[in-house]
Amino acid sequence: MDKFVIRGGNPLVGTIRVSGAKNSALPCMAAAILTEDEVTLENIPQVRDIETERRLLASMGAEVELREGKQQDQTTICCRTLSDPVARYEIVKTMRASSLVLGPLIARTGAARVAMPGGCAIGGRPIDLHIKGLEKMGAVITQEHGYLEARAERLRGAHLVFDKITVTGTEDLLMAAVLAEGDTLMENCALEPEVADLAALLNAMGARIEGAGTATIRVHGVSSLHGARYRINPDRIEAGTFLIAGAITGGDLIVSNCNAAHLGAAIAKLQEAGARIDVLGPDAVRVRAVAQLSAADISTEEYPGFPTDMQAQYMALATQAEGVSLVRENIFENRFMHVQELVRMGANIKVDGSTATVRGPTRLDSAAVMCSDLRASASLVLAALVAEGETIIDRVYHMDRGYERFEEKLIGVGAQIQRLGNVFAPRDPAEVAG
Ligand code: EPZ
Repeated sequence: MDKFVIRGGNPLVGTIRVSGAKNSALPCMAAAILTEDEVTLENIPQVRDIETERRLLASMGAEVELREGKQQDQTTICCRTLSDPVARYEIVKTMRASSLVLGPLIARTGAARVAMPGGCAIGGRPIDLHIKGLEKMGAVITQEHGYLEARAERLRGAHLVFDKITVTGTEDLLMAAVLAEGDTLMENCALEPEVADLAALLNAMGARIEGAGTATIRVHGVSSLHGARYRINPDRIEAGTFLIAGAITGGDLIVSNCNAAHLGAAIAKLQEAGARIDVLGPDAVRVRAVAQLSAADISTEEYPGFPTDMQAQYMALATQAEGVSLVRENIFENRFMHVQELVRMGANIKVDGSTATVRGPTRLDSAAVMCSDLRASASLVLAALVAEGETIIDRVYHMDRGYERFEEKLIGVGAQIQRLGNVFAPRDPAEVAG
C-alpha cells in the first residue's frame, strides 16, 4: 500500500490547476447507459473511482477504454449492447456511487440487478430514497442476497418529493425520468452543481429537463436519447482543498481551472478565518494567508452551504487558527475519522456527538498516521504540510480515489512530498467507498 512522506514547513506559492469533478463524472458516465450511441466526456479526472466506474460499465457489456486510454482527460463510453446489466458486489463494494447505474439500467433495459452498496467509513449510506422514487415511477424492486432486483415495463412519470435532500438520489431518479412515459415533477432536489452538470449532459443527449440546480426539477420523458460530447465542471472540492492548503501553509496560491461560482461557502469561511481571498476571474481564485488565522465555526449543509466534503480539510485549518472553532457535521453520522489522527499530530480537538471543538493554534508534530476515507486523507496531508518534521501517511489509496495527481500538483507549488510503495498496490479488501 502506498504511503506519503511529507516534510512540513513550506508555504505553497504559485498556480495549482484543478481537475474535473469526480462527482460529476460518475453520474455522467452512468448516463451513457441511456443511449446506444457514443457519449464522450471531457475534463474527466484520472482517479480510482473513475476507473472503477469504467470497469463497472465494461462488466455490463459497455465499450469503454480502461486505464490505458489515449486521451487521459476524456472518456468515450458506448452502451450499444448491455449484455449483462448487473452491478456486481465485487465492484460496488469499492464504490457506493455504483448505485448511480440503477435508474439508468431500469430506464434503458427495463431491468437491473445491482448490489446494495452497504455502508462506508463515513456512514450507513442508505439508498432507500432512490428505491422509493423508482417504485413510485412503476419499478418493482425486491432485495435478495444483498442485491436489488428491479423490473419495469416502462417507467412512468410521477410526482416525487424527496424526504431528505440526496445528491445521487436526485441524479439517479433524474436519469430514470428522462426516458419515462410522461412528465416527472421532482421536489426537494439537491442543488449541488453536479446535478446541473448531469442535467446539461442529458439535455445535450436529447432529454427535456428544466430546473436542474434548483429544488424543483421538471422532466418531460422522451422515447430515446442520442450520443453527445460534453465537458464536465471543475472539481469544487479539490479547489476548496487547495484554497485551504494555501491558507494553512501561509502561502500565496492561485487555484486555476476552477469554477469560482461554486466556491462561495468555502471562500466566505476562509475570509472569516482571516485568509485573503481574491477572485481573479470565473476560473481562478487567489489565496494569501495573513499573520494569524482566526477561529471560525462551520456547520456542514447541503449546497450552497458549507460542504460536508470540505469539513475534514477545514478542521486541519482550524488547528492553526487562534481561538475555538466549532465544527458541526450535519450530513453524515461518522465523518470525524480524521480527528484522532490529527490529535496524534498534536491537535487539540474534542468530539461530542456531531460537533468537534477545535482549540488553536497548536503546533503539529510529524507522526505516522493513516487515511480512513477520501476527504480525511486530504485533511491529514494539509496537517502534514504545516507539521514539524516528516509525517508518514499510510493507505493513500483512499486519496487516489478522488484526487488526481495530488502530490504532483502540491510539489509543483513547493510542497515536500514523496510517495513510497507500489503505485498499483492491491486495494485493501476493507476499502469501501465514500
Ligand atoms: C454525494 O453522496 C457525494 N458523492 C458525496 O461525496 C457527498 O459527501 C454527498 O453527496 C453529500 O454532499 C457523489 O456524488 C458520488 P446523499 P450521496 O445521498 O449522494 C442520506 C466524496 O467525498 N440518504 O446526498 O451518497 C445519507 O445517509 C463523497 O466525494 C438517505 O437517508 O450523499 C446522508 O445522510 C463522499 N437515503 C444524506 O442523506 C438515501 O436514499 C445525504 O446523502 C440517500 C441518502
